[in-house]
Amino acid sequence: MGEDPVLLIAGLAWTMLDTTTATEWSCTKPAEIEHGYVEHLIQYRCNPHYRLRGAGDGMYRCDEDHTWVSSEAGREVPVCEPVCGKPKNPPRQMQRIIGGLLAQKDSFPWQGRLVTRHNLTVGATLISDQWLLTTGRNVYLNHTADAKPEEIAPTLQLFLGSQKQNQPALDIERVVLHPAYPEAVDLALLKLKQKVPLGDEAMPICLPQKDYVRPGQVGYVSGWGRGATFAFPDMLKYVMLPVAEEEQCRQYYEARNASYWVQPTLSNDTFCVGMSELREDTCYGDAGGAFAVQDPDDDTWYATGILSYDKTCTASKYGVYVDVRRVLAWVKETVAAG
Ligand SMILES: *[C@@H]1O[C@H](CO)[C@@H](O)[C@H](O)[C@H]1NC(C)=O
Ligand SMILES: *[C@@H]1O[C@H](CO)[C@@H](O)[C@H](O)[C@H]1NC(C)=O
Ligand SMILES: *[C@@H]1O[C@H](CO)[C@@H](O)[C@H](O)[C@H]1NC(C)=O
Ligand SMILES: *[C@@H]1O[C@H](CO)[C@@H](O)[C@H](O)[C@H]1NC(C)=O
Repeated sequence: MGEDPVLLIAGLAWTMLDTTTATEWSCTKPAEIEHGYVEHLIQYRCNPHYRLRGAGDGMYRCDEDHTWVSSEAGREVPVCEPVCGKPKNPPRQMQRIIGGLLAQKDSFPWQGRLVTRHNLTVGATLISDQWLLTTGRNVYLNHTADAKPEEIAPTLQLFLGSQKQNQPALDIERVVLHPAYPEAVDLALLKLKQKVPLGDEAMPICLPQKDYVRPGQVGYVSGWGRGATFAFPDMLKYVMLPVAEEEQCRQYYEARNASYWVQPTLSNDTFCVGMSELREDTCYGDAGGAFAVQDPDDDTWYATGILSYDKTCTASKYGVYVDVRRVLAWVKETVAAG
């Protein structure tokens, strides 16, 4: 019988190694066994809060050319991407307070706090280790409509996790407005100058792969917006709200006196959300936060919407959200282009 090819390859790989020396990434030559052989394999693994991207398990074997090859990925080195939508303490019905629930630590690790140059706090949603979604209107707060995104970027400050406002903010490198802003899509992407270290306090939410926008679907919305007392709370709060009937919402806003009320941006790329039975609601400053839906199939949280119209404060019936699935192509292209 001829020599086993796998054994031959393994033998070649070890010819360079003395049996007594081991580099930092290798061991001494393993003992041979009867009726079997040794394969020379390595396995790439990701740090906590990151996972291997795509197919393959990170396992590579040493081939004839002394290079590492994976059966799925070939010679390409694997990539560790952030884990998304897996909060350490998923939001639950907790301590009830006026106008919402007080968020537990690490329940909404994707929640960003965006502070404008006139010190107004609004929301932003972390979707990777370097990008956030917020509204176009949030970006333009305290700027005139003719201001350019590159002029606005350095005036914004971003905070994640328990990072306090007296700590240095994360710098924003770039603001990218959705091409349909302001007419139809009130949305912007924020790129941070540096990737943020991820952990229990800062973790992105996943982008939706399924359509969760159907009447009655409950989502969790978090924010530092004004509560019932109209004071900005120090603590992150959240409410559970149901997706509303689209037609009723449109009729509601069409019937309203537009010269008196600030009207929401309603389009094919938005959906409406009602109030909770306890008349809890979002309010000024909550915009930019995610309508987060937990998919029971994979126990993962998805950013189904981004709150655009936060002027409801229990006085208006429907909050309006940008439907993330409808803008997914733009989000992915913009992030991929860097
Ligand atoms: C914003 O808040 C910071 C810290 O509280 C304060 O130092 C600064 O003067 C404020 N700026 C404006 C424009 O109010
Ligand atoms: C920005 O905010 C400051 C302080 O509230 C105000 O004086 C100024 O007029 C605002 N500018 C714009 C363009 O909104
Ligand atoms: C709409 O509101 C404006 C300002 O309050 C008022 O002058 C106008 O009469 C109202 N129009 C209708 C149709 O109610
Ligand atoms: C929105 O959707 C409706 C129905 O599908 C379609 O007739 C309309 O042209 C769409 N509007 C825009 C601006 O895409």
